[in-house]
Amino acid sequence: MTIRTIIEPFRIKSVERIRRTTREERQRLLRAAGYNLFLVPAEDILIDLLTDSGTSAMSAEQWAALMRGDESYAGSPSFTRFRDSVQAIFGFRHVIPTHQGRAAERILFSVMCKKGDVVPNNTHFDTTRANCEFVGAKAVDIPIPEAREPARLHPFKGNMDTAALEKLIEETGAKRVPLVMLTVTNNSGGGQPVSMANIRAVKEICKQHKIPLYIDACRFAENAYFIKLREPGYANKSPREIAREMFSYADGCTMSAKKDGLANIGGFLCTNDDLLAQQEKDLLILTEGFPTYGGLAGRDLEAIAVGLNEALEEEYLKYRIASTAFLGNHIASEGVPIVQPPGGHAIYIDARAFLPHIPTSQFPGIALAVELYIEGGIRSVEIGSLMFGEHARMDLVRLAIPRRVYTQSHIEYVVEVILDVWRRRDKIVGYELVHQAPFLRHFTARLKPVKA
Ligand SMILES: Cc1ncc(COP(=O)(O)O)c(C=O)c1O
Repeated sequence: MTIRTIIEPFRIKSVERIRRTTREERQRLLRAAGYNLFLVPAEDILIDLLTDSGTSAMSAEQWAALMRGDESYAGSPSFTRFRDSVQAIFGFRHVIPTHQGRAAERILFSVMCKKGDVVPNNTHFDTTRANCEFVGAKAVDIPIPEAREPARLHPFKGNMDTAALEKLIEETGAKRVPLVMLTVTNNSGGGQPVSMANIRAVKEICKQHKIPLYIDACRFAENAYFIKLREPGYANKSPREIAREMFSYADGCTMSAKKDGLANIGGFLCTNDDLLAQQEKDLLILTEGFPTYGGLAGRDLEAIAVGLNEALEEEYLKYRIASTAFLGNHIASEGVPIVQPPGGHAIYIDARAFLPHIPTSQFPGIALAVELYIEGGIRSVEIGSLMFGEHARMDLVRLAIPRRVYTQSHIEYVVEVILDVWRRRDKIVGYELVHQAPFLRHFTARLKPVKA
């Protein structure tokens, strides 16, 4: 008999207390926070699913490595260990440490792009888009058409539309496309993976037009595991072998080590191009630091060096993907509308379908996120009309799962809370704005419930 219970492939050596609050306390806290979960203090959250970025639990091996951290300004052995660990997986000639992913993006686009250029991606993450646009280039998203339908099942919904890529290059002219990017997994598209076949096909098009391919590698290990599970020919390969093949088709990558680096801070930029690497390092010195630390402490480099390898451990990935899928499949089987299939790092609930009686002008995503907090102290994040205003195509509530932080019983608790809210969904009311900032309003907006 196969045992089906999901167990964490680790035991716990150090614990962190989480605080239960009463429903009345949570209602009071929400009123004080203007019904904006960004403004609720973290101590008053029981299960925090706001983000999977920088929230991982480090292993005993990572904590031990911190003590080896060498804080020399130049030529630290911590950098050597970091570079060797990155190169063993990613295989690029140059490894440039940065304080997080967006710093790598800023440097990459500053060096490679100019005004009027076009950068295609399956879907640009917001910081990627912003850094691209900041240098005057146009960020274009070309996911496969299936990615635009939340309920549609597809094993590699993160894939890029290769016909659209060819058309875009044709129309723009290859000279004005300085690079093509692929985000693995596709965060903004629901944490959906990209297949090896798609990476290969995108590379082939890039090669024909002499355009370099860069991978936004934040969740590379989760993507590699999805390839192992779902793509013919990869079942017997290790996640590390798959990751190596993924990156063998690329000319470089950007990385936020706050995701599959299992670190609380850090990132890097890689390239095989000697000239670009030199320009990137010059810019790095200007704003981040010397190329052997790039804005990080030596101990951070050590934590990342170990974390990248742990993120590729098969037992860990099996538990991670199974636990996220358990959450998604369990609530979906009771009728809760989610973005299908469950992604690697998060479950996205379709709030418009969950609360069809609340118009988008009354923020169904906020209404649902507020109820999950009132019901069970869970913090999620609205990705919809409050975040994107009239440009929002969907109203989603994202439950991002921090790595190695919550146990299966925590996940079961989250399922129970969501289902309790689902059963009383008809009584949930919408929200109206009381205060908003001129940009990025979701961080500081204040709202109030609409009178029923
Ligand atoms: C796909 C993707 N790219 C880039 C970034 C930016 O990384 P950072 O937050 O480390 O700047 C993120 C962060 O969430 C991401 O998910």
